[in-house]
Amino acid sequence: MLPISAASNWNIHQLCDDLNDNGFALLDHAYSDDFFLQIREECLENLQEFKDAAIQNGVVSQIRSDHILWINPELPTAYQHIKALEVLSDLLNQNFYLGIKNVEAHFACYNPGEFYALHRDNPQQKNHRIISTVLYLQEKWQENWGGLLRLQDKHGNWHLIEPHPNRLAVFQSDLLHEVLAAQQQRLSITGWLRSDQNLW
Ligand code: OGA
Ligand code: MN
Repeated sequence: MLPISAASNWNIHQLCDDLNDNGFALLDHAYSDDFFLQIREECLENLQEFKDAAIQNGVVSQIRSDHILWINPELPTAYQHIKALEVLSDLLNQNFYLGIKNVEAHFACYNPGEFYALHRDNPQQKNHRIISTVLYLQEKWQENWGGLLRLQDKHGNWHLIEPHPNRLAVFQSDLLHEVLAAQQQRLSITGWLRSDQNLW
């Protein structure tokens, strides 16, 4: 099944209820096994292209140590995930009038010991990120491997979210969160639903 059809089958009512109640939602088995394997494969094939996320405009930040690769149509499988996130954006716009107009996403690889310290994806409404999404691309994940997403919900309660294969985490971009160091390589795609126009 293509990601776009998968997205139209997501339990959007549950997702909207969870987002509304807590500011975040988890969607397990987001895609078919076939597509999941394909997108994971595309990630693995391109690992040599990933760049240090800590270095932006030549400045090195201490807050994160992962490696990323921005997704564009030249990564056709991951680009389909962007298309599915566009379907999700339309559904969220219909339910919450969020005014989402654009989706951006990058692959991320955390090697053992790498992390992303406490942050918000959209601090003080500084950028146009409204909703953050993370699709986890591990083949399997064991509890003792670490690599949890630690997220504060909109009521101030903390949650530990395991990066299960084929799980899509969806949360408000203004929520505080961090990625705890993992003992194994941890692969994912972070995607943001934004209220500004297409950047490219
Ligand atoms: C991010 C992020 C969370 C995760 O990329 O901004 O917070 O679980 N990712 O990978
Ligand atoms: Mn983040």
